[in-house]
Amino acid sequence: MNLPPHLSVQDGHLFIGEHDTVRLAEEYGTPLYVTDEGRVRARYREYRDALSAHYKPVLVLYAAKANGNSALLRVFADEGAGADVFSPGELELALRAGMEPSHLLFNGSSKSRNDLRLAIERGIRVTLDSMDELRAIDEVAGTLGKEAFVSFRVNPALDVPTHPKIATGLASSKFGIPHERVPDAYRAALEADHVRPVGIHCHIGSQILALDPFIEAARVMVRIAGELVRMGVVLEFIDLGGGLGIPYRHDEDRAPTPREYADAVMPVFVDGMTALGIRPALWVEPGRSLVADSTVLLTRVNSTKDAHRRFVNVDAGFNQLVRPAMYGSYHEIVVANHADAPLESTCTVAGPICESGDLLAEDRPLPAVTEGDLLAILDAGAYGFSMASQYNARPRAAELLVRGPDRAPMRRAETVDDLVATQLTPPWL
Ligand code: LLP
Repeated sequence: MNLPPHLSVQDGHLFIGEHDTVRLAEEYGTPLYVTDEGRVRARYREYRDALSAHYKPVLVLYAAKANGNSALLRVFADEGAGADVFSPGELELALRAGMEPSHLLFNGSSKSRNDLRLAIERGIRVTLDSMDELRAIDEVAGTLGKEAFVSFRVNPALDVPTHPKIATGLASSKFGIPHERVPDAYRAALEADHVRPVGIHCHIGSQILALDPFIEAARVMVRIAGELVRMGVVLEFIDLGGGLGIPYRHDEDRAPTPREYADAVMPVFVDGMTALGIRPALWVEPGRSLVADSTVLLTRVNSTKDAHRRFVNVDAGFNQLVRPAMYGSYHEIVVANHADAPLESTCTVAGPICESGDLLAEDRPLPAVTEGDLLAILDAGAYGFSMASQYNARPRAAELLVRGPDRAPMRRAETVDDLVATQLTPPWL
C-alpha cells in the first residue's frame, strides 16, 4: 500500500515519523490517535507556498472543525495561519492558541446574537448566511457602539462530485445566499448603520478530488466581486473556502496537490483581480487536506469471530471515528504489528458499540489477525477526534503528538470520572 512520507514499515511494524506505533500503543494504551506534527506543518507550507507563488497576500485559514485540538491550533498559529471557526468554542480555542483575531473568520449558518456579540467584541470578521443575520448583527453592533466587519457566504449552486452530506454549495444546501441574490445582500449591508462588508466567502463542499468545481467556484466569486466593486464595496478579502480531498484509497485515489489546486484556481482569481484593478487578500480554508493523513488511530483487537462474515472486533468504534458509519467512508487499515504480512482473509472490522452499523471497514482483505494485534486506521486526522462521542459511556481516546524524536500527549484519554463530571444529581435523588 502507498504510504505518505511520514509513515513507514520497519521490521514489520508501522512507524509514524520516528515512532513505532506498537510501542506507542503499549505505552499510552488504545484507542489512541497519533499525529505527526511535521506532516501538518509540511502540508500547511505546501498550501502557503503554492498559493503565494501566484499572488500575495494569501492567508491559509485552517478549518478548526477538522481537529480543534489546541496543540494543533498552536502549530498553525506558529506557522502564521489563521482559522475558519464555526462556533464560539472554536473561536475561543483559536484565540487562546495565539491566533490573531484578524486571521479568524467566524462562519456558520445559524449564529445566535450572543455568538455575533462575541465576534464583534473580539474584533473578528463574520460571514453572514442570511438576511436575518445581517439585521441581527447590525443591531448587536449598534448596541455595542461598534462596527461589524462582514462577508456573505455565496451559494454558487454547484453540483460537486462528493458525498451528498458534505456537498455544501448545492442549490438545495442550507448554506449561503443564492448567488443571484448576493448583490442585494451587499446592498443591504452597505445601507446598514453598523455593518461594513469587507469580504466574500464560499465553500462548495468537502473531499473533492476534481479541480473543475474549484475553478468554477472561483469564476463565480470573481464575477460577484466585480458586481460588488461596482456598487462600492471595498473588498479586503475573498475566501474560496476549503474542500480539497485526500486519497483515502491509497492505491486507487488521486488527489490534487495544493500546487495543482493553486495552478488551476489562481490564474482565474489573479486575472479576475487584475481586470477589476483590486488586490484583496486571498483566503482559503482547508481542513481535511491539512491534517487528515497526519494521524493514525490505533486500536487493539479484542477478538475475532467467524460468523456469516469474518469479524475483527476492536476497541475503537464509531464513538472514536464516525466517518465510516456516517458517510460509508473508506479508511485504509494496516495491521501495525505485522504490517508486511501477506493478505490472508477478508475481514469486517467492528467496534465495541451496541449498533450493527458500528463497522470501521467492511469485507476488507487483511493479513492474519488475532486477539492482541494492533490495527492502525489511517487518515484519521480530519473529522476523527473532533466528531467523537461518548456513546455507550465510552470515554474518548487520547491524542498523542509526535515530532522528530519527541512525543507527548496533546489530550489524555477520558475516564469514567470525565463521563460524570458534568452530570448533576437532582436533589430528590
Ligand atoms: N470552510 C467551511 C465553511 C466548511 O464548512 C468546511 C468544512 C471547511 C472550510 C473545510 O473543508 P475541508 O477542507 O476539510 O474539506 N465531517 C465531514 C466533513 C464536513 C466538512 C464540513 N465543512 C467528513 O468527515 O467528511
